[in-house]
Amino acid sequence: MRASLICLVHHHGKNFVHSPAVHYHITLMNTLKRCLATISRLWQWPPAPTLSLSTQVLKCDPSSISFDADGVPLIKSSETLAAIRTASRHLVEDLQTVAFPTETVYGLGALALDASASARIFATKGRPPDNPLIVHISSQYMLLSLLPAGYTIPSAYRVLIEHFWPGPLTLLFPRDPAKIPSIITAGQPTVAIRMPSHPVARALIAISGSPLAAPSANSSGKPSPTRAEHVLRDLGGKLGLILDGGFCDVGLESTVVDGLHEDGSIRVLRPGGVPVEDIERVLQQNFNQGAVPKVLVHRRDFLDEDIEQAPTTPGMKYRHYSPSVPVKLLRTISKPPPGVEVITPLDLLDSLKRSMTSCKSLKVGLMTPSDSSIVEGLVNDAEIQWHQYVLGSSAEPAVTAQRLFDGLLTLEKAGVDIILIEEVSEDREGLAIMNRVKKAAGEAYWITMSA
Ligand code: TXA
Ligand code: MG
Repeated sequence: MRASLICLVHHHGKNFVHSPAVHYHITLMNTLKRCLATISRLWQWPPAPTLSLSTQVLKCDPSSISFDADGVPLIKSSETLAAIRTASRHLVEDLQTVAFPTETVYGLGALALDASASARIFATKGRPPDNPLIVHISSQYMLLSLLPAGYTIPSAYRVLIEHFWPGPLTLLFPRDPAKIPSIITAGQPTVAIRMPSHPVARALIAISGSPLAAPSANSSGKPSPTRAEHVLRDLGGKLGLILDGGFCDVGLESTVVDGLHEDGSIRVLRPGGVPVEDIERVLQQNFNQGAVPKVLVHRRDFLDEDIEQAPTTPGMKYRHYSPSVPVKLLRTISKPPPGVEVITPLDLLDSLKRSMTSCKSLKVGLMTPSDSSIVEGLVNDAEIQWHQYVLGSSAEPAVTAQRLFDGLLTLEKAGVDIILIEEVSEDREGLAIMNRVKKAAGEAYWITMSA
């Protein structure tokens, strides 16, 4: 019985990986299915309203999914198999959006090669149309099918793909306008592509037999969701289906890299799940086509006027990662800019109390590393109702990364009036953490422990 549950999932996934000829056949079948679905939708006039859908949440067990050497998913749990098949039908036959777990954050997916399906992503999230989407793939073959004919993948990319895919690294490639709809790239000449490592994400893409465009599954401007319940609270009623695969291990979005410049440098447009130090190390150890490419981090190592103006650098142009309550950054490591006042925890408490507009006690969310030195000086004050959310220790930035968005969303749900987050050092995942925190925080206080 148990053996019978070990299904070779769906012929799509299997054949897709094996042979381009069969891939063509499957693409044709999917196109036919979509045409039939469109015809049947036309009969159902007037169309069902898209805003007040009842949102189904289907559980998936990531540990029940494995992949063979060709990337074909094998799914042992019948519940998980049924959930992923249902999601695939939503995507392929109904051209709907589906939220699914990735190792970074939950994504809001739709068929990447269908402009009308991808348009639903923008509508569901309230995303500005000039902010391009990442295309998610499940195999190297799928990558090749998206690139311009005859395109040679740069050597540095080959090294990065070998070491970090599947995983939280997004690479920019030239866009072939005949293959990638312009809605995906917001008219950019490049397309961002990544192969997620989360078994549910990879299996969903393989079974759907098509790349999925997927931004983080949050309303535009909000923190990214790392649990299915975050998606449900934010977008419930606006999409039909959420696959619940538990919490996301990485907790922050992928690192977005542009290696297409003539100087051969690797430009990190958005720090993320793959630390810059790891990219540097892997290139140092494995790049053997001449000088090892430099790794440059946007705003730390280079500035580009075009990037500042266009929304191509994630989170540059638009408000980002902000819960509905104000967030303040407590600077405890970096030096204050000249002329900026440095305050003690006591001064901070006074300032918080002055901001109390009624006699009801202020609820303050406090996110600090587990070994923070400022907590005691704050939470002993009984006039304030403290809600603590502990991040990782200073030595474990990956734990803080994993907990950051969950902390913001948990404290928001708890109804706090304000959230204070303590600074972490910008090493490894710390670079991505501070990138998000600076964007989420409206204001920073420089704190000193010496009175
Ligand atoms: O980990 C992730 O990357 C998650 C999961 C779901 O995969 N996705 C994600 O997508 O964070 P999103 O849309 O929230 O952020 C992707 C960012 C966008 O802000 C966009 O500016 C940037 O990637 N991007 C997409 N295409 C680009 C392009 N052609 N050039 C430059 N930046 C691009
Ligand atoms: Mg996002």
